[in-house]
Amino acid sequence: MTIFVTGGAGYIGSHTCVELLQNGHNVVVYDNLSNSSVEALKRVETITGKLITFIIGDIRDESSLTQAMQGCDAVIHFAGLKAVGESVAKPLEYYDNNVQGTLCLLRSMQTNSIKTLVFSSSATVYGDPESLPLREDHPLRTTNPYGQTKLVIEDILRDLYRSDNTWQIMILRYFNPVGAHESGLIGEDPQDIPNNLMPFIAQVAIGRRENLNIFGENYPTHDGTGVRDYIHVVDLAHGHLKALEALTSPQCTAINLGTGIGYSVLDVVNAFSKASQQSIPYIIAPRREGDIAACYADPSKANTAIGWSAKRNLDQMCHDAWNFQSKNPTGYK
Ligand code: NAD
Ligand code: UFG
Repeated sequence: MTIFVTGGAGYIGSHTCVELLQNGHNVVVYDNLSNSSVEALKRVETITGKLITFIIGDIRDESSLTQAMQGCDAVIHFAGLKAVGESVAKPLEYYDNNVQGTLCLLRSMQTNSIKTLVFSSSATVYGDPESLPLREDHPLRTTNPYGQTKLVIEDILRDLYRSDNTWQIMILRYFNPVGAHESGLIGEDPQDIPNNLMPFIAQVAIGRRENLNIFGENYPTHDGTGVRDYIHVVDLAHGHLKALEALTSPQCTAINLGTGIGYSVLDVVNAFSKASQQSIPYIIAPRREGDIAACYADPSKANTAIGWSAKRNLDQMCHDAWNFQSKNPTGYK
């Protein structure tokens, strides 16, 4: 199949392109490079020995998008802005990019009679969990504009399927993607100060930052620091392949992609320190606004619905994140 990948130059998109190419699919990447580099795609070609068709464009440019996806069989939609804090400061930008962009994408798909879609959602749609582990039928609500864009898009997809039940839609709710490809060629390359824990720790380990701020030590968790379900990005990428392969009949299905295991900030610091053989100096800082104590998945639906489960553990995640960071101390630059 030929897969149209929006946001394919980004962190999760580039790893998914590797999976797709290595499993015999052709890939057309459509990305405006607002948070990524074309270098990532060159490296995907190096890893796989296959070529990617790359089109620079914005998903809100509907005519360019409609033309670009001609001849494709299915779409994986990663393109979007993803920084929670920035979304609070720039809500209009987030709604425009993520929601308006997705509306353009869905219309372009209709124009091209392409009705198979895998969409990047997030565990953020569960808000502050009422119960753990999180199942897909947990009530949906969010606490910030970024999360709201994901929820609105999920609702749009459910409404679209209700209006035309020939669509084949998989909504993937990611937990906390971390790590990098085992080659050390592609990985996470934040443009500014990292918001997320693992890339921040990696930059402390390499000496780009002095110390980590641990946001809160008095949560009701096993050591007082926040607990999350970290998932290796290569496992996550594989989940997209399995989701695509499972889309052989009309549906609109939401699935968690997580490991089911919660690790605390201190667990991650210790595992990273062991994997990198570097010390990770940290300071205990106040809680970060909007953070929740704990969040981890019940991943069993992914196993039954698409035959997927995560294979890589926290040590592997830290090892591969460090491998990428140490081979690319300034990222793709
Ligand atoms: P990323 O920023 O690395 O990748 C997103 C890509 O989309 C980038 O290459 C960017 O240039 C591109 N893009 C953004 N707006 C665009 C537009 N209007 N037109 C064309 N291209 C555009 O982020 P990522 O971590 O790879 O995330 C991919 C998707 O997964 C996003 O939708 C994100 O919200 C979602 N997600 C990410 C996480 C996470 O922690 N990384 C967690 C849950 C969900
Ligand atoms: N943390 C620190 N210091 C840091 C960064 C993070 O202590 O410098 C802590 C946080 O307080 C939290 C944990 O590390 O306890 C994980 O934080 P991340 O920012 O890495 O991840 P979040 O769970 O807060 O957010 C991520 C994505 C969001 C998504 C959410 C739910 O970044 O986009 O998961 O899926 F909405």
